[in-house]
Amino acid sequence: MRMTVIGTGYLGATHAACMAELGHEVLGVDVDKSKIEQLAAGKVPFYEPGLPEVLERNLASGRLDFTTDYQRVADFANVHFLGVGTPQQHGSYAADVTYVNAVIDSLVPLLEGDHIIFGKSTVPVGTAQELQKRADALCKEGTTVEIAWNPEFLREGYAVKDTIEPDRIVLGVREGSRADEVAREVYKQSIDSGTPFLVMDLPTAELVKVSANAFLATKISFINAVSEVCEIAGGDVTMLADAIGFDERIGRKFLGAGLGFGGGCLPKDIRAFMARAGELGADQALTFLREVDAINMRRRDRVVELSREILGGVLGRRITVLGAAFKPNSDDVRDSPALAVAGQLSLAGAAVSVYDPEAMGNAAKVFPTLDYAESVDAALEGAELVILATEWQEFRNLDPVHVGELVADKRIIDGRNVLDVAAWQGAGWEMWALGRSL
Ligand code: UGA
Repeated sequence: MRMTVIGTGYLGATHAACMAELGHEVLGVDVDKSKIEQLAAGKVPFYEPGLPEVLERNLASGRLDFTTDYQRVADFANVHFLGVGTPQQHGSYAADVTYVNAVIDSLVPLLEGDHIIFGKSTVPVGTAQELQKRADALCKEGTTVEIAWNPEFLREGYAVKDTIEPDRIVLGVREGSRADEVAREVYKQSIDSGTPFLVMDLPTAELVKVSANAFLATKISFINAVSEVCEIAGGDVTMLADAIGFDERIGRKFLGAGLGFGGGCLPKDIRAFMARAGELGADQALTFLREVDAINMRRRDRVVELSREILGGVLGRRITVLGAAFKPNSDDVRDSPALAVAGQLSLAGAAVSVYDPEAMGNAAKVFPTLDYAESVDAALEGAELVILATEWQEFRNLDPVHVGELVADKRIIDGRNVLDVAAWQGAGWEMWALGRSL
């Protein structure tokens, strides 16, 4: 099939490359010229394991191309995927749908014939219906444009696998839609291999996406709230999570207690969901998400406070923060708990050295005043306190004896509960963690 993908950020670039990998002919478009030039040259503008190979392979096969020209997009195909960003609005909790609207405004007047636009962006419920009205008003005579919603559930770090072999495919359609049939053809390979394909109305499809992210955020904050109690009561949150996780109804995944969630999705999505519920008059329904957000933010403060307690104040003290990305296998620092901790400590007067295997460039753009070390060893040199803030495998594998020779004082906070306590303590380290006393 021929199709276009509009927006080539995380979601769009991955979707475009993976659809070509599935054998489709794909044209990706973005208004950002430098992004398009990089992608067309086979360079992925962010860190995503496996994606560069898929991109290169499909550019070489001729099935994948990129452009900034909307006319080419209009002429190329009758099936379009919309994957532009919906960031948090400045000064509000709501999602900003400016870019989504702009796509409709740029593309629809150029279309001829019958087209379907599959929205993939995370949007406030009701957006698809609004976009349909917008598209209808902009359509040339004799042209039809149908808006369907096909939310994306990919995780950064596993984006290729999640796109090629998703857990489920969700499709929201209006009455009398043709989109169902078209989507079945697009995703034929996944559907044939048994991936559940769920067709529903537009508002449900929009809500599925934000509900999934809100549930994941709630699960993380649940365990982090219990973590706060464990700290006072002398319990161990990791053992507790193992124990409750064996109950299949609960499950152990996303019960990783620690510094909490960040990134470009979970934090903004719970806020936008609350804002939208309020707009719709369901004021009370999602107020608990405010608590989910607050619990999450308190974990960052707790690590800063713990550092103060351990060092007797952080002013002028040398602290090494391991990690800047919001999670491992990503170079994304949007709303990163690691960077928030490093930043707060630095603003409180500590000399903070940061190392991250992939996110240093992005971190330096957001927080240029931190000291970014060239290697993990260089970052650890002379540290009076080490904080493991993002659980990269490289940090999990650190040898406590070797690290002990680099630092000034063998003190570490395991902000993600991933280190081998016996090994580190055996090497003479004093350890602290969130949700358990060591
Ligand atoms: C999330 C969802 O998992 C995806 O399904 C969704 O498609 C995506 O948002 C999106 O809306 O685009 P992502 O932001 O890549 O994906 O990251 P997650 O793997 O969900 O992790 C989010 C945060 O939670 C990270 O900061 C991670 O460190 C934290 N986390 C995760 C914990 O603190 N504890 C856990 O047990 C698990």
